[in-house]
Amino acid sequence: MQVKTTPISPDHLKRSIDRLRKMVAQSRTTTPPPVVNVHYWYHKDTIKQLARVAASLSKLSNSAFKRLAQAALSATARKLSLADPRVAVPVRLKPERYSQSHPLFKKSAAILQSIAEADATAVFFKVLEQYASLVGQLWPVRDRMGELEHVYANSLGSGRSTMTSQPEGSVDAIVTSPPYLGAQKYIRASSLSLGWLSMTEPNQLRSLEDQSIGREHFPSKAYNNEPRCPLPEAESLLKLVHLKNPLRAHIASRYLIEMHEVIANCYRVLRRGGNLVLVSGCNMICCEVFDTTAFLQKICTRLGFHQTLEVTDVIKSRGLMTRRNKTAAVIPLESVTVFQK
Ligand SMILES: C[S@@+](CC[C@H](N)C(=O)[O-])C[C@H]1O[C@@H](n2cnc3c(N)ncnc32)[C@H](O)[C@@H]1O
Repeated sequence: MQVKTTPISPDHLKRSIDRLRKMVAQSRTTTPPPVVNVHYWYHKDTIKQLARVAASLSKLSNSAFKRLAQAALSATARKLSLADPRVAVPVRLKPERYSQSHPLFKKSAAILQSIAEADATAVFFKVLEQYASLVGQLWPVRDRMGELEHVYANSLGSGRSTMTSQPEGSVDAIVTSPPYLGAQKYIRASSLSLGWLSMTEPNQLRSLEDQSIGREHFPSKAYNNEPRCPLPEAESLLKLVHLKNPLRAHIASRYLIEMHEVIANCYRVLRRGGNLVLVSGCNMICCEVFDTTAFLQKICTRLGFHQTLEVTDVIKSRGLMTRRNKTAAVIPLESVTVFQK
């Protein structure tokens, strides 16, 4: 998706919300967009109401307000699904998993009850108003904001909506929180939202995953040989991991190769003196530390970036990290590194 995001005035936001409210109230749509297993994840009435919201959004012309409303629908769809909010990927919330004296029994039962009683349209508009109030606060500083130009559905490779089509030296700053290694469930985690926003059909989720950096699914013939390594600093680690688990070594190797491609593209599109802000965290692979931050920093400096700042932060929640067979432990630190071209 390529977008040009311009600030929206609070008045414009208010008028747009009022218009959307009328469209939803008048909508007679009963068919929801192609959400995977929609009847498993939602109550009937929620489906009916969200279908009307989704149908009304699809009629809006492409604008910053439409994208704001899409973000609100995505959050509402997650909030009102029967999926456990403590788990990033959809897993049905089941209070009976816990004994009746367990605090999560009561908590899960209360969540399910509030979902059953929720007015989905009202929840959607409440979320949208919260987002609009945040976006509206940017209006007084709009002259200092510049433009947020392009958002890439896929930062890799060729084809539609990739960074490769962005002209060289055309960007002032890039802020990115790239995928983690060992946190590869991004597509499954977004599958309900992708459906409600009609961004994908259930049978396209797998192909979307195949374009996702840090993915885990590879055919066994892909990792028979020793992994390729774009970074000398990671070579001995990948060889060691290959002896323990060739698939995991291949996943890490692809991750570094693809992140190298993305960062090289970031370098290309930035103007001289432009900044790249990179958020990254480390984790473990087969009981070995995979120092993502150090590897990505090395890739950046080798490509010609100068590191100007690094700050470290404790991550409060790392919902997507997998504790795979107790070998992929979580290190709850993240770094924000700033580089200049
Ligand atoms: C650490 S998360 C950052 C999420 C982000 N901060 C946000 O709030 O949406 C990494 C994100 O990169 C996305 N991603 C994975 N592969 C990608 C690719 N090839 N092109 C663009 N984004 C990708 C994942 O789907 C995930 O949303």
